[in-house]
Amino acid sequence: MEHGLSCPDNEERKEMAENSREERRQAVIEVLNEARKMELHAIVQYMNQHYGLDDMDYGELAGKIKLIAIDEMKHAEDFAERIKELGGEPTTDRAAEVVPGQAVEKIFKFDSGLEDDTIDRYSKFEAVCRENGDTITAKLFERIIDEEQIHLNYFDDIDDHIEKLGKNFLARKAGTPSDTGLTILGFVAQQGGE
Ligand SMILES: [Fe+2]
Ligand SMILES: [Fe+2]
Repeated sequence: MEHGLSCPDNEERKEMAENSREERRQAVIEVLNEARKMELHAIVQYMNQHYGLDDMDYGELAGKIKLIAIDEMKHAEDFAERIKELGGEPTTDRAAEVVPGQAVEKIFKFDSGLEDDTIDRYSKFEAVCRENGDTITAKLFERIIDEEQIHLNYFDDIDDHIEKLGKNFLARKAGTPSDTGLTILGFVAQQGGE
């Protein structure tokens, strides 16, 4: 009786709820795409280092970075799948330009910095997901942060060895095999081809 607006009020409220749900979804898609850009950058950067190190004959170091690049590919796919589930479009952009042809002494410090920055940013992205009520995406970030931490530890460890032992350490890695111990089944191999 007061103003007879109870019905539109309810609809308005429903619309507001819908809008805010849409905004929350967009906020999560946005951080997922930011993270995907970082993964796409890391993949190409690490691939460049992988064949660079292989060419310099540091096989073992090359093989490890190849495996890490594959981890980053999985992360890029995980983010894309979640973006699709939320109705968004996964980006194909890279977060930064790739630095080609780095010296062995530079690579591990560089990568350690990259992983450190990634962990920092993904922690913020995880918080954005929680603020927007998306626990599933927050957990995805949590799992991937753990994996980036393993990358960071490896890069830090090698960088430390290079700093402390320099040429002696590198001499021990020279001529080592780049075999990753993994048979990565691509499409052709899965079809029984060679
Ligand atoms: Fe990653
Ligand atoms: Fe990583």
